[in-house]
Amino acid sequence: MFEEINNINIEVQNFQSKSLEEIDQFRISYLGKKGKITLLFNNFKLIPVEQKKEFGARLNILKSSALEKINLLKSSLKDHSKSKKTDTDYTIPGQPTNFGSRHPITLIRDRIINVFSHIGFSISEGPEVEDDWHNFTALNFPEEHPARDMQDTFFITDDIALRTHTSSVQVRVMENSKPPIRTISPGRVYRNEAISARAHCFFHQVEGLYIDKNVSFGDMKQTLLYFTKSLFGPDTKIRLRPSYFPFTEPSAEVDVSCTICSQKGCNVCKYSGWLEIMGCGMVDPNVLENCNIDSNIYSGYAFGMGVERIAQLIYQVNDLRLYSENDLRFIKQFRSEI
Ligand code: PHE
Repeated sequence: MFEEINNINIEVQNFQSKSLEEIDQFRISYLGKKGKITLLFNNFKLIPVEQKKEFGARLNILKSSALEKINLLKSSLKDHSKSKKTDTDYTIPGQPTNFGSRHPITLIRDRIINVFSHIGFSISEGPEVEDDWHNFTALNFPEEHPARDMQDTFFITDDIALRTHTSSVQVRVMENSKPPIRTISPGRVYRNEAISARAHCFFHQVEGLYIDKNVSFGDMKQTLLYFTKSLFGPDTKIRLRPSYFPFTEPSAEVDVSCTICSQKGCNVCKYSGWLEIMGCGMVDPNVLENCNIDSNIYSGYAFGMGVERIAQLIYQVNDLRLYSENDLRFIKQFRSEI
C-alpha cells in the first residue's frame, strides 16, 4: 500500500501538460470519485491500526501535492495566455517621426557663407548692441548723417544702439588684426522701420571685407560675379551702378540679371531685367585710418547684402513678414533643403 503511494507520487511529479483538457483529465483520474488517490483513501479501513496514522499522513501529503501540481500547471497556462495578449504587435503602423527643418534664412545665409569660405574668407561675428564708434563714427558717418537719426536707429543711450549693419563687425576686425584681411560677417541687424511686406525692424546681413596691398575695384567686381554665379547659376550677369555709402569710395549697387524671367521682363524685376541685391565699394581711406591701417600701403573693398532679399529671390517669397512669424506651415516647406 505504501509502495502504491510512492508510485502515484512519482506519476504526479512527472506529469507535465500545457493543455487544460489534459490537466482536467489528470485531476479526474487521480482525485475524481474513482481516481487513484481517492481509491487509496477508500483502502484506509484495510490498513492495520498501528500503520493508520502514517498512512493517513502520507496520503494527505500525496493529495495536496497533486492539487498543488494541478494549480501550478493551470496558472502557468493563464500566465502564458496573458503574456500573449501584451506581446508586441508588429503589424501596427509605426509612429510618424517629426523631422525638424531649417529656417529659410539660415539656409540662404549658409549658402552665402559657403561660397565665400571656398575663396578664403573667414567668418567674424560681433555684438548686436553696439557703440556709436563701431556702427557709425569709425565708418566715416558725418555727425549729422541722417542714418544716425532716430528714425533709422534704435538707440539705447546716446552712445549705444542696436547695430544697423554688420559693417560694425568689420571695424572690430580691422582694429584687431593686420592685413591681409578677408572676412565676412553674417548677423542680425536692426532698423526702426514700420513692419510691412517689404520692410521689417530687423533683418539679416552678410557683409564682406577684403584688405591687402593693391586690391582693386576689378578684384571686387570679379569676386562678386563669382559669388552671384555660384548662388544664382552660371548664366547670371551683374551690373554695378554708382551709389553712395559714407564708408566706401567709389560706391556701387550690385544688380543681378533677373533670376525669375531671365531678363524677359516680369513683375519681380519690374520689367527692367535687373534685381538689386547688394551695396559695395572701395573702403574709404578715412575708415582704414580710423582702424589704424595705413591707407598709403593698403586698400580694400567691402560689400553687404540682406539675406532676406536673397531668400526672397531664390524662394520667390514676396512678404518679408513670413520669415519672422514662425508659422510652421511656411517654415516646414523648406525641410527638403537640408
Ligand atoms: N553697410 C551697408 C548697408 O547696411 C552695405 C554695404 C556694405 C555697402 C559694404 C557697401 C559696402 O546697407
